[in-house]
Amino acid sequence: MASSFNSFLFFLAILVSTSYAQNGLVLPIRKDTNTLQYYTSIEMGSNRATVNAVINLGAQFLWFDCDDYTSSTYAPIPCDSKKCEIAKGIGCVGCNMPPRPGCTNNTCGASPYNPFQDVLVSQGFAEDTLYSKDRVEVPQFPFSCMNTRFLEGLASGTNGMLGLARTEISLHKQVANKLNLPDKFSLCLPSSGLGKLYIGGGSSSKSDVTKSLITTPLIINPVSTAPAYTVGDPSDEYFINVQSIRVQGEPLSVKSSYFTIDKDGVGGTKISTINNFTAVHSSIYKPLARAFVKAASDMKIKSVDAVAPFRACFSSSTISTASTGPSVPTIELVLPGNDVSWKIYGANSMFPVNKNVMCLAFVDGGSSPRTSIVIGAYQLEDNLLEFDLVSSQLLFSSSLLLQNKTCSRL
Ligand SMILES: *[C@@H]1O[C@H](CO)[C@@H](O)[C@H](O)[C@H]1NC(C)=O
Ligand SMILES: *[C@@H]1O[C@H](CO)[C@@H](O)[C@H](O)[C@H]1NC(C)=O
Ligand SMILES: *[C@@H]1O[C@H](CO)[C@@H](O)[C@H](O)[C@H]1NC(C)=O
Repeated sequence: MASSFNSFLFFLAILVSTSYAQNGLVLPIRKDTNTLQYYTSIEMGSNRATVNAVINLGAQFLWFDCDDYTSSTYAPIPCDSKKCEIAKGIGCVGCNMPPRPGCTNNTCGASPYNPFQDVLVSQGFAEDTLYSKDRVEVPQFPFSCMNTRFLEGLASGTNGMLGLARTEISLHKQVANKLNLPDKFSLCLPSSGLGKLYIGGGSSSKSDVTKSLITTPLIINPVSTAPAYTVGDPSDEYFINVQSIRVQGEPLSVKSSYFTIDKDGVGGTKISTINNFTAVHSSIYKPLARAFVKAASDMKIKSVDAVAPFRACFSSSTISTASTGPSVPTIELVLPGNDVSWKIYGANSMFPVNKNVMCLAFVDGGSSPRTSIVIGAYQLEDNLLEFDLVSSQLLFSSSLLLQNKTCSRL
């Protein structure tokens, strides 16, 4: 009797934990309009400290300012441990001050990176419980502390960075492993209001827009693009196979080698939430801007003096408004398959620099960028993106405005 009661309780416990886990985490996304950084909020540790972390698709792990952090469940990850190996920790760090979070001996070395300052800092890995506002908890979640002075460049009100790269210690992978969910996440950056980051299972069935998502393979760049890495490591950022670009249906004339990734990991197209505007190789930027200006002029849109960092700007009063934003030539990133492309409409291609002028929101990435096309955050606004790391595919909606939706109204 007792044993069947116990197994009944055990069964109940499993039911409860799976019904919790099935949901994964749903985190809010806010936009900082001064920097075009997008951040989410999580709670960490026994005192549930709020961390406002800038979302970085290309970063390997979570870091935040621990100066005021206290938590009875904080635990440093020891060097030479299995967990340190999983975190790809380098070396062993110590600290000569009184012990506290971010100051412990024999700790697995971490190198948190602030891309806005381009600095790599020496720290140690630790773990603590991560909570979402909707009460899902992820135990023993790895992260590193960051010194306050290295927060400069982050949007005001934020105190950390959430890495979502393809690593073992990124939030989606940890949720997949610890809550037994598929390794998928969805990102919907808002133009205003609250966007959403779904971790564990993506956004499926959350909205009917998921039925019309377009699928393209995520590809692996064989050479790491991280600021610090071990020779031989592939990149853990998200690359897609853009094969050409069309403006108002016309393909640009660009050497195809810029679109492919060579053996040194140079070239290709990645997706970044840290670049505010899409940056493209000069040899792509020039024909792109030329074709855009020409097609705009065919639509009776008047060019005006450029406003840096942009090079192609227009008089707003000569641009009409459509459901997808300013009515301007459509830019298409052509992907593998039969007529598959990512269409970019006015809401994502035009940036209003003042009330009279809007500019083509693409920037010149110079003549020798590591990656030829870095799709930036402004181009991702109000587009639903699902990163499916089980099948290594990206599913994307293009502009939700086409369906009279936005990321804050999904
Ligand atoms: C875009 O990012 C650059 C570099 O971080 C920054 O200087 C600039 O203010 C940002 N632009 C906007 C409109 O947020
Ligand atoms: C680390 O070890 C050194 C040498 O034993 C000691 O002086 C120091 O207080 C320790 N630091 C911490 C944070 O425990
Ligand atoms: C678009 O959505 C808004 C808000 O949900 C609604 O008020 C409006 O009627 C919709 N417009 C169309 C054309 O369906």
